[in-house]
Amino acid sequence: MCGIVGYIGSREASAVVVGGLKRLEYRGYDSAGVAVLAQNGHIELRRDVGKLSNLQATLQEAPLSGHIGIGHTRWATHGAPSQRNAHPHVSMNGRVVVVHNGIVENFLSLREELEAEGVRFESDTDTEVIVQMVERYLEAGESLETAVRRTLRQLKGANAVVVMSIDRPDTLLCARLGNAGGITLGLGQDEMFIASDIPAILDYTREMVFLESRQMARLTRHAYVVTDLDGRPVRAEVHSIGWDPVSAAKGEFKHFMQKEIFEQPQALIDTVRGRVDFENGRVYLPEMNLTPELAQRIQKLIIIACGTSYYSGLAGKFMFESIARLPTEVAYASEFRYYDPIIDEGTAVLAITQSGETADTLAACELAKEMGATLWSIVNAVGSQSTRISHGYIPMQAGPEIGVASTKAFTTSLVDQYLLACALGELRGAVSAARLRQLVDDLAQLPNLAGQVLDHDDEYEAMAWHFFKAHNFLYLGRGINYAVAREGALKLKEISYIHAEGYPAGEMKHGPIALIDETMPVVALATQDHLYDKMISQIQQAKARNGVVLAVATEGDEAIRQETDYVFYVPATPPLLAPVVNTIPLQLFAYHVAVRLGCDVDQPRNLAKSVTVE
Ligand code: AGP
Repeated sequence: MCGIVGYIGSREASAVVVGGLKRLEYRGYDSAGVAVLAQNGHIELRRDVGKLSNLQATLQEAPLSGHIGIGHTRWATHGAPSQRNAHPHVSMNGRVVVVHNGIVENFLSLREELEAEGVRFESDTDTEVIVQMVERYLEAGESLETAVRRTLRQLKGANAVVVMSIDRPDTLLCARLGNAGGITLGLGQDEMFIASDIPAILDYTREMVFLESRQMARLTRHAYVVTDLDGRPVRAEVHSIGWDPVSAAKGEFKHFMQKEIFEQPQALIDTVRGRVDFENGRVYLPEMNLTPELAQRIQKLIIIACGTSYYSGLAGKFMFESIARLPTEVAYASEFRYYDPIIDEGTAVLAITQSGETADTLAACELAKEMGATLWSIVNAVGSQSTRISHGYIPMQAGPEIGVASTKAFTTSLVDQYLLACALGELRGAVSAARLRQLVDDLAQLPNLAGQVLDHDDEYEAMAWHFFKAHNFLYLGRGINYAVAREGALKLKEISYIHAEGYPAGEMKHGPIALIDETMPVVALATQDHLYDKMISQIQQAKARNGVVLAVATEGDEAIRQETDYVFYVPATPPLLAPVVNTIPLQLFAYHVAVRLGCDVDQPRNLAKSVTVE
C-alpha cells in the first residue's frame, strides 16, 4: 500500500508533504521521498530507504524549499528497497516528476518503446515509464494536461498518479485509473492538497473530493477542476469530513474491517507488483532464495498455520499439488508440534501468518527447523519474527491489517501461495511454459474480478438484514471451496458470535445433515467448476429437509435460482484462484450481520489481532 501526498499553496511544501506521509504511518514504510519545485525553478528531490524518520533526518541536513511539492511512501515492498527505486521519479530531462500507486501491467513494452527513442531509465520500477512518457509528449509540444492524458490512456492496470512539472509551477495534476487506492483532494483557503488517504491532510482541511476511476484533476492554489480522461469537466461532490484523525484512518469507512475488505483489489495488485512479468509469463520471488537444486530436492510440503491462515493453506494445497506436483499436507500449527511429524531434508515447511508473531506458528516453525526442514513463510508484517527465522519468505504486501478479523491478508496469502506454486512448478519442471503463461495471465484480471464483487455490497447488506437473527449457520464447499466454507464460517462467528460451521459438502450425508431444518441457513459454495453438479446434489439434499440455502454462484448461472433461496453471484474465475473471489461475499455478509447486531466488528470480544500466547 503506497502513501501519496501533494501540496500547492503558501506553506513550505516539504513540511506539509512529509507531515502528511507521517499521518499515513499506519501503512509502514520501506522507502519514502519528497520533491518540490524550488525557487530556482528546478525540481529538487530527497529520497531514503527505510522508515520516514530517515527521510526526515536527510531533510534536516539538506532542507527543501518551495511552495509546491509531492511525496510518496512504499510499505513492505518486495526485494531490497533502494534509493533509485524510491518515488518520486524525475524524467530524464528534469521537466516532470511523478509519484504513483498501482501497477502498470504493460510497463515492459512501454519501456522498450521509450528506450528505443533514446530515453535513459534510472530505476527498475514500472512507475518510471509514466514520467518519461509525459516528458516525451511535452517535448513534442503537448500541454501538460494533454501529455498526462495521452500517457494515462496507454497504461494497462489500476493506477493512481500525481504529476508536477517545471513547465507549470502553479499546477498539480492527479488521476485515478481503476481501484489502485484512492486520490483525495483537500480544498483549503488559497491552498490545495492531494492524498491517498484522508488522515494525511485532515489537519489542514475537512473539505474533500474523492476522485472516481478514470477521473483526472488539475489544481492550482486557488482552484481545482475535475475532468474525465477526455478532458470533459465532471461534477465532483465535496464531502465535509467530521472524523477525528484516528477514525479518519478508516477513510470513508465505518470500520477497519470494512476498509480492509474494500482494499483487497489494491492489496492484490500490491502482492503481485514487481513479482510477475506479465509479458513473458514469469514469476520472481527474490526473498525465497529458490534454486532449481532446492526445488527439486523438496519432496514434501507441510503448511502450518492457525485460524484464517490455516484455511488459506487448505486452498494452497490444491495449488501446490496441481501446479508444482508437490505432495502437500496442511496442519494446525498448534497440533503439529505435538504429533511426531515426519521431516527430513526433503521436507519444506511453509508457515502462513499475517502477524508473523503467532506463538503456535512460531513454535511449530522452530520445531520444523530443528528437525532439518527448509522453513518458508508467507507474512504480512515484514520484519516480524517469522520472516527472521525463515530460510525464505514472501511478504503479503497487503498493507497493515488493523481489524482483528483477517480479510485482505487471507486473499493475498492465497495469491502468494499461487505465485510460489508457479515458481516451484517451473523450477521442478512440473509445469509447461504454456501453462505457466496461462496461470500468470489468469492473475492479471484478479484485482478487477475482486472489485466487481465489491460493487454488490448492498446485496450482501440486504441479505445480512434477512438472516441476522439466525443462531446457527452451515457453510458447505467441496474441493478448493471447502477452504472458503471454513473461512466464511469463521468470519461470521468471530465478529457476530453466531455459531457457524464450515463443512465438506460431501460429508453432510454422513451425519451433520441431521442438523438441517428451516432454522439453520446453509451457505453453499456452488461456483461452476468440476464439482458443480455434486454441489447441486448437496443443495437439493438440504432443500429436501426444509433447509434455507444461500449459494455463491457464477454470474450467468440462472439454473441455480431454481435450486436455492438466495444467490450471491460472483464473476467466473479460474478454479485455483476462485477462493480469492468467492470469499469476498462471505466477508461482506459476516460484516453486515455483525454491524446489524451492533457487535464490535474491529475488536470482537475475547479475540486479539495477534495471538502471541499458546
Ligand atoms: C482470523 O480472522 C483471526 N484473526 C485468526 O484466526 C487469525 O487468522 C489467526 O490467529 C492467525 O493469525 P496470523 O495469521 O497472524 O498467524
